[in-house]
Amino acid sequence: MADATIILGIETSCDETSCALVAEGRRVLSNVVASQIDLHARFGGVVPEVASRAHIEAINAVLDSALKASGVRPDQIAAVAVTNEPGLIGSLLVGLMAAKTLAWVWDVPLVGVNHVYAHAYSPALDAEPIDYPAAALICSGGHTALYRCTGPTELELIGTTIDDAAGEAFDKVAHILQVGYPGGPVIDRLATGGNPQAVAFPRSFLRGPGAPGLDFSFSGLKTAVLYHVNGTPGLKRQARAVAGAGAGKGAAYLTKQELADVAASFQAAVVDVLISKLRRAAKVTGARTLILGGGVSANSALRQAAGELAEKCRCTLRMPQLCYCVDNAAQTAGLAWHYLRSGRTADLDLEAFATVRR
Ligand code: KG4
Ligand code: ZN
Repeated sequence: MADATIILGIETSCDETSCALVAEGRRVLSNVVASQIDLHARFGGVVPEVASRAHIEAINAVLDSALKASGVRPDQIAAVAVTNEPGLIGSLLVGLMAAKTLAWVWDVPLVGVNHVYAHAYSPALDAEPIDYPAAALICSGGHTALYRCTGPTELELIGTTIDDAAGEAFDKVAHILQVGYPGGPVIDRLATGGNPQAVAFPRSFLRGPGAPGLDFSFSGLKTAVLYHVNGTPGLKRQARAVAGAGAGKGAAYLTKQELADVAASFQAAVVDVLISKLRRAAKVTGARTLILGGGVSANSALRQAAGELAEKCRCTLRMPQLCYCVDNAAQTAGLAWHYLRSGRTADLDLEAFATVRR
């Protein structure tokens, strides 16, 4: 007899294979995540073919572990939820096929979930329900976006990146600094010993006349870090005296302190822009709540700055626990509960989409 509240979630949109069991949309019974970081580290980023192959190899074992860890029997599961957009198409398809098979075999509804919306729901996991209306800032390796949220399933995109995602910028800057992959956690750690004002990296605010200015751009910042560290093409090592002894020659020439200073200054530039846009989004949406989500929401400087912003604009700040910042199936299953309750289930011909449909 199915316990009407337990949902199995499956997430394979990028480089984490994850299965989770969640009751009543918020109580996480198990959340198993198999990371592929080691496979992609030597490439400095996710290689799509490698990712989809690794999902195929991992999915059965991850499903098994999630079921065992939760103590839930298949006949207690009310629905199977799966991330079907956006993401790497080959990776999404692995999770989607697994989900369809289980929904068919167990004869339960299938629910398709948008991965970015699931990140916006993640602060509700093992926590109180989110109070709406809210302004959500979702930043990860693949996305940087602002949403006006009037409920867990009602999200309107109000700003997005026109080039790199924030997490992608962290990963690329870590590559320039030769400090490892994924870059976010390493830069976060390095930055704690650095001076955020040491290097005046640019902030792109994209404020045009009449434009709401809620879009993001991080490619200029990334290039500024590249030129600062490796030197500006066509120019002699002119600015070294100002920029620091090791600047302009390559990461290997930076002292430990210079490395920390570059990390802290880069991170400060990203956080400044993200927080400034979130402040504007809160105003535009009349939000009562600020939501952070996605891998970059684990960033300590961003979390602190968001706390200060929430206090200033008298909003409640909702951030996911650190274990729910990066990709996980608990957020997929949690959000699916709201779709299931409103009857929005999918047929077995549900498709995967690499980009978000508008
Ligand atoms: O949400 P996520 O797991 O995957 C996508 O949906 O893309 O986010 C992964 C991203 C990576 O770019 C990683 O460098 C970044 O999140 N990240 C961080 C931190 N932890 C992970 N960025 C900044 N600071 C962190 N502490
Ligand atoms: Zn994600």
